[in-house]
Amino acid sequence: MTQHHHHRTTRLLGSLLLVAAAGAFTVGAAPAPAADGDSTAAVPLTRVIPAPASVTAGGAPYRITGGTHIHVDDSREARRIGSYLADVLRPSTGYRLPVTDDSDRHGGGIRLTLKSKDKSLGGEGYRLESGRHGVTISAREPAGLFHGVQTLRQLLPAAVERDSRQPGPWLVAGGTVEDTPRYAWRGAMLDVSRHFFSVDEVKRYIDQLALYKLNKLHLHLSDDQGWRIAIDSWPRLATYGGSTEVGGGPGGHYTKADYKEIVRYAAARHLEVVPEIDMPGHTNAALASYAELNCDGVAPPLYTGIEVGFSSLCVNKEITYDFVEDVVRELAALTPGRYLHIGGDEAHSTSHEDYVTFMERVQPVVAEYGKTVIGWHQLTGAEPAEGALAQYWGTDRTSAAEKEQVAAAARNGTGLILSPADRAYLDMKYDKDTPLGLAWAGYVDVQRSYDWNPGEYLPGAPASAVRGVEAPLWTETLGDSGQLEYMAFPRLPGVAELGWSPASTHDWDAYRERLAAQGPRWDALGINYHRAPDVPWPAR
Ligand code: ACM
Repeated sequence: MTQHHHHRTTRLLGSLLLVAAAGAFTVGAAPAPAADGDSTAAVPLTRVIPAPASVTAGGAPYRITGGTHIHVDDSREARRIGSYLADVLRPSTGYRLPVTDDSDRHGGGIRLTLKSKDKSLGGEGYRLESGRHGVTISAREPAGLFHGVQTLRQLLPAAVERDSRQPGPWLVAGGTVEDTPRYAWRGAMLDVSRHFFSVDEVKRYIDQLALYKLNKLHLHLSDDQGWRIAIDSWPRLATYGGSTEVGGGPGGHYTKADYKEIVRYAAARHLEVVPEIDMPGHTNAALASYAELNCDGVAPPLYTGIEVGFSSLCVNKEITYDFVEDVVRELAALTPGRYLHIGGDEAHSTSHEDYVTFMERVQPVVAEYGKTVIGWHQLTGAEPAEGALAQYWGTDRTSAAEKEQVAAAARNGTGLILSPADRAYLDMKYDKDTPLGLAWAGYVDVQRSYDWNPGEYLPGAPASAVRGVEAPLWTETLGDSGQLEYMAFPRLPGVAELGWSPASTHDWDAYRERLAAQGPRWDALGINYHRAPDVPWPAR
């Protein structure tokens, strides 16, 4: 909410890119949703992403006015979420919107309560009721209340997201939304290794993830091109291994205080940070920082290209496991979340036998420090630890044998996070004209990224093994927030919807209309989105 101004420059650059691409398509002829500022009618309760589980529309709308209060329970969490909502609404409405204790009941208004008795809402569900006298959001847990607040934002006119006073009126359609997620894991991954992103840039992305009820932020903290987290027992990892990035720029790293601030900011938006240290491959930055980690005792130079698969920790040296334990111990101590991702992908310079040996030694270290192992799906080529999760990143062209290896692990109890690269990878180009991104998994247009069913995706894997979905954003070609946004928007909300919404709501033609209505919100927020030709965006 606080970083709009900082971002104008990248937004402008993005607009120039869009102008350059504009000749390639015309905006679709489907009926346009109300444009930014045309707020005489309330937004329909169904025009929300992710699609709510249940909507009953009807009755008079509620109108937020200068007299509206935000009533909250007498609890720290409810007050905190009330203040968050007030921070969203105050700049654009210009209203005071005092956040007041529940005992202060005069005048109707917006009510946020954690006292729902409805067990079916679970930890992340909420109920939103709107009528002439007010809007009530009720939940059992703070995460549910927070998600309900995100729905309320989308029910207000797009101009509510602007940071200066707008005319209104501020109507919320009458009716009831009852909403719970399909999956517990709704993630986004940001690669801060290939290019480094500042704490403020990560916070900006966190705010964007929160809009769509995502609840995991996976940070890819190490790779060949950069080590991005301070480790006290191996200080050169960050100070030397973090000193560059793809293209040879200055790189950077997070101090422990920086990382804690990211964790805090994410937690305040109900996102759990999942740190990844990629091993045994993707480790050139570590190998360059400490000669003794190399089998031949010689440190390679830092690397600023975009090849993969050339580096490996030295599986047969004992110091490798001292290193891993030190890193895991320090990272686990910094991370309140339950998970630690150990990578394990593209270990092309590690023999299969060494890979299995390495994973057998490293997985128990993660458990020793109280965390659950996650690995890219190649981990299923070793023996995944009890309770481990495998993150599947294959494509339609992945061999049946490789898919079956993952499916067999799933039948054997390994949970799956689905990130198929030709659907969920946000760094894949939309089409041949996309100025950023890669195309090794093919072009991924908006429909392709949305139009699949996680529950039935991987042949032979039981639906019950699927813990959810995650949208990775690799940054070989992406260097600032505007570029991240150009690739993430408009595809990220589709992956978020696959994670949240019941399969019964899945419908591309309805989805693209709802997605189009997000465009004016992104304009109001200064998000540099791609006006993809398969979405009927309203005219600007
Ligand atoms: C990956 O894209 N190498 C996980």
